[in-house]
Amino acid sequence: MLFVFIVVLSIFFYVLVRFRKRKNISYTPKQIEGNSLLEIIWTLIPIILLIILAIPTISHTFYLAKEPTEKDFLFIKVTAYQYWWEFEYPNLGIKTAQELHIPVGKKVFLEFHGKDVLHSFWVPALGGKTDIIPGKVTKMWLDAKYPGEYYGKCAEFCGSGHSLMNFKVFAEKNFSSWVAKMKKPKKELSSPILAEGKTLFMQNCMSCHALENAPIKGPELNSFAFRKYIGGSMLHNERNLKKWLKDPSVIKPGVKMPKIDYLSDRELDALIKYLERK
Ligand code: CUA
Repeated sequence: MLFVFIVVLSIFFYVLVRFRKRKNISYTPKQIEGNSLLEIIWTLIPIILLIILAIPTISHTFYLAKEPTEKDFLFIKVTAYQYWWEFEYPNLGIKTAQELHIPVGKKVFLEFHGKDVLHSFWVPALGGKTDIIPGKVTKMWLDAKYPGEYYGKCAEFCGSGHSLMNFKVFAEKNFSSWVAKMKKPKKELSSPILAEGKTLFMQNCMSCHALENAPIKGPELNSFAFRKYIGGSMLHNERNLKKWLKDPSVIKPGVKMPKIDYLSDRELDALIKYLERK
């Protein structure tokens, strides 16, 4: 582009100066019309350029649209809600939210489902955007070459909580150990404070954050203790979790979760203990 820019502008300024209107000199260039050779050349050159561009474009378009047929890809069902993400691994029996864990160096096939309004799945460092449309299944695949934590974002305006509809992708070198961690049954409730936490959970959280197989309104919390972030963005620790529970909308404006500021500090601590059990 720079090359074309310099050539065209150089000729342009040369002509401006060379053929400017001057006193006493009337310069009329030779009048010509039509030059078949020139016309053929400047028609052929763009045709050739377009053909050269079309070859990789077409082959890559088909390559990207190809659904993996080989056995060695990981299938993940992604569901977008206002304003959070659910990730389900049907073949592994795992369901989690907000943090997508994928293996390094293995293709991951994502199938998108929408429940409310338009969203768009975007992990800038790993691939392009894919719109999520209620009533229609969309698909894409990712292939993380390097382990690490990748920033993910909803890229389609979806309401007041859109700007913080974030998620993370963790590309794991040792994916099977993450799977094992997810599948390990939780420790039995061993203390009165955990039992109290469970009661508080059932009274205050269960109607949206059902542990299993109930209508979904909020992210599942079974694997919450393993998450690195709260609400998709805020670092996960007990202090931040307390802040979140007291009023999540301060941290994530537009969030649909109501505040639980009516619980005492001690009750919140019990609830947090229960949520944080591994
Ligand atoms: Cu979901 Cu923007």
